[in-house]
Amino acid sequence: MKVAIACDHAAFRLKEAIRAHLEEQGVSYRDFGIYDAGEKRDYPYASLYACRAIQSGECELGIVLCGTGVGVSMAANKMPGIRAACCGDSFSAQYTRAHNNANVLCMGERVIGEGLACQLVDLFLATPFEGGRHARRVAQIEALEKGELE
Ligand code: RB5
Repeated sequence: MKVAIACDHAAFRLKEAIRAHLEEQGVSYRDFGIYDAGEKRDYPYASLYACRAIQSGECELGIVLCGTGVGVSMAANKMPGIRAACCGDSFSAQYTRAHNNANVLCMGERVIGEGLACQLVDLFLATPFEGGRHARRVAQIEALEKGELE
């Protein structure tokens, strides 16, 4: 399993902390930047680059970061096939995988500390989708995306 990670300029430090954590855990990832604390990037581009890798099948899951986590999640959720969840607590990070089959975890560097963020990453990556009745609801999201939900 390969994880796409990306951030805007408001979340470079958090992205680097998560990248180091993934290294420690032996999780395979591709870093879509930014690559330097001085670099500037508007948050929709962080979503675009990481989520494209999910759409293409290169990566299975993504972690996309900005100041709040909200901007990157809004942008990511405009992309077909992407189910992005902005999380700041462990229950949400776990259950958005289990029940929503979320494929992108969004967090905000200005909202949560690095320790909690890494814990949410671990939960998100370790939790499988439960399927069953939840699969019906995720299918409804997909129909909504196509304008086919009646
Ligand atoms: C950038 O200053 C900030 O607006 C952005 O990182 C994010 O918080 C938007 O949702």
